[in-house]
Amino acid sequence: MRIKDIFFFDKVISTQILAREFISYKRDLMIVANEQEGGYGRYQRPWYSPVGGLYFSLLLNLEDREIFSLFDILFHILRSIVLACEETFSLKRKLQIKWPNDIYYEDRKLSGILAEKYNLSLICGCGMNLNNDKFPKELSNAISLKEILKREISSFEKFIFMENILKRLNYEKVNKRELLNFLKERNYLKDKKIKVLLPSKEEIIGVCEDIDDDYSLILEKGIKILSGEVEKIFL
Ligand code: BTN
Repeated sequence: MRIKDIFFFDKVISTQILAREFISYKRDLMIVANEQEGGYGRYQRPWYSPVGGLYFSLLLNLEDREIFSLFDILFHILRSIVLACEETFSLKRKLQIKWPNDIYYEDRKLSGILAEKYNLSLICGCGMNLNNDKFPKELSNAISLKEILKREISSFEKFIFMENILKRLNYEKVNKRELLNFLKERNYLKDKKIKVLLPSKEEIIGVCEDIDDDYSLILEKGIKILSGEVEKIFL
């Protein structure tokens, strides 16, 4: 990737929505905001976005790209964010990935990623709880970096964190095997009994065994799930 342009905003509706306005530039870029009034996540769920969190969207032009599977790109971004976070905040191997798009610390959600495709552009947004640690009661499962580290994150650290994400995205060559190994090692769902809602609205309950080479989730008895929402984890 070649993300050289970064645009900072104070308050926006959503960095995802703003990023759409830049599609015609055909350049890879990053949009960051301090606060969002209409941030949203997967399935159009509201994404709680007060001051103190990290909210950004990456706009990627997919024309002439060598790696073309959207999953390759999405998981490369997720891996870069996880590793940059661990590197910046000395959290060695503490973070896990809840397939397909969440970053977990222990049993709580630290961050979520959203990928949206518009013709030949991909807009990939990330929301991470940094200093925002008072969550509405429906987000009882959320955790912030402040809570993990037991101290405030400075704006300088936030900046270094973003720089580390971009360094990995721009310069690190990750082959598919490495990416898959990473996802398998950090699979938060492994050996857990889960309930998955499929796009067909069918629900499947089973124990997660692994992640397959096409990035699908493998449940017991060889059941493969390429897309769906993990609705419940039986801890
Ligand atoms: C999820 O867990 O469902 C994904 C959440 C993605 C939230 C981020 S915050 C920055 C960007 N702007 C948005 O409106 N959404 C994404």
